[in-house]
Amino acid sequence: MRRSFYERPALFFGVVFFGFIALSFVVAVGPAIEIQAKHKPLPGSQPMTPQELRGFDVYIAEGCPYCHTQQVRPLKMDAVWGRPSVASDYARLEPLHWWMETPGVLGSERTGPDLTNIGKRQPSEIWQLIHLYDPRAVVSWSIMPSFHSLFEVTSSPAADATVVPVPPDFAPSHGKVVAKQRALDLVAYLLSRKQAPLPEGVGGEAAAAPAAPAAEAGGGGAQDEGAMLYSANCASCHQAGGTGLTSTFPPLKDDPVVNDDDPTEHISTVLHGAHGRTINGVQYPVAMPAFKDMLSDAQIVAIVNHERSSWGNSGKPVTEEMVAKVRKEGAPQ
Ligand code: HEC
Ligand code: HEC
Repeated sequence: MRRSFYERPALFFGVVFFGFIALSFVVAVGPAIEIQAKHKPLPGSQPMTPQELRGFDVYIAEGCPYCHTQQVRPLKMDAVWGRPSVASDYARLEPLHWWMETPGVLGSERTGPDLTNIGKRQPSEIWQLIHLYDPRAVVSWSIMPSFHSLFEVTSSPAADATVVPVPPDFAPSHGKVVAKQRALDLVAYLLSRKQAPLPEGVGGEAAAAPAAPAAEAGGGGAQDEGAMLYSANCASCHQAGGTGLTSTFPPLKDDPVVNDDDPTEHISTVLHGAHGRTINGVQYPVAMPAFKDMLSDAQIVAIVNHERSSWGNSGKPVTEEMVAKVRKEGAPQ
């Protein structure tokens, strides 16, 4: 008598087992191989350094992705975070440990801003450290938690320690705030988050979407654009009202450079950054970053004129020709 299929255990399990393997290939392994072959890392992107990888580990361990995305959607409202993300942007992600899956950084909750391009938007290491120690020290309305555990307070920091100049209202009453290695690693990771330019022909829908936030200024004209660009690029340090933060970032309200009839130094400071000046008798521990690669001449005109005409300032307005001229002259010696 012939046995039925169900009465032949070897055949039955063989079909089920190899059927499972075949299906896994068709629905999972095959597509994964195809996607990896198709979406190579972008030419302008860099693999993470060992320190950045350690910082990535801290980023995941501290739960930052619960509040922060790293995916710019091809929508107008996302243009302030950078160009729309493409699959190749994630091609360098690796599992942190062999027994883990690749961490998810895309995120689904945007309680805080998207961090895809934070290394370009906020390149100051010291700002990042102050912000991690207590976000409210630099952004008064922030609801981001303080990460005190990444720092230690000591009255005698080592010579090579990174002392964080926390503004007085937020500093501990005794001792100095010193960044632990975990904080330095995390900030190294954050500062490495920079979008690589898309090569010709990559991106499709993404490449066609609006790129520069300047295009988003709306119908309000130059005045609005200046205010918007100021708030996106400068207010994190100089604050919305141009007041700065006591002994950490200088005020731009009533500032001599901003009110100087000769705008050369004002423009040059925005293009090339500054460090170590004495402004109204105060020396600041932090450097002002350079914006020459981030802002166009027209955008700098908008910001500079916004500063010159806000908060009671009365500096003469500047033109695009003036900015182009100072840019051509290069950084002051
Ligand atoms: C509970 C939600 C929450 C968590 C968790 C959180 N953040 Fe934030 N984050 C925010 C909010 C809200 C803001 C906007 C206000 C501000 O700048 O502080 C922000 C702002 C930021 C900014 C400034 C972005 C910009 O465009 O100026 C950075 C950088 C940042 N967070 C990094 C981190 C890192 C790193 C972690 C993990 C150690 C983290 N955040 C955890 C909510 C969060
Ligand atoms: C990371 C914080 C930070 C950001 C962001 C920042 N600045 Fe500054 N800025 C500073 C610091 C610190 C100084 C003082 C530099 C020094 O000590 O030489 C400064 C100085 C200046 C000065 C010169 C003041 C003087 O009297 O010499 C101007 C003008 C200025 N910033 C404008 C801007 C504009 C415009 C932007 C945005 C495009 C901007 N800053 C973004 C921190 C910042």
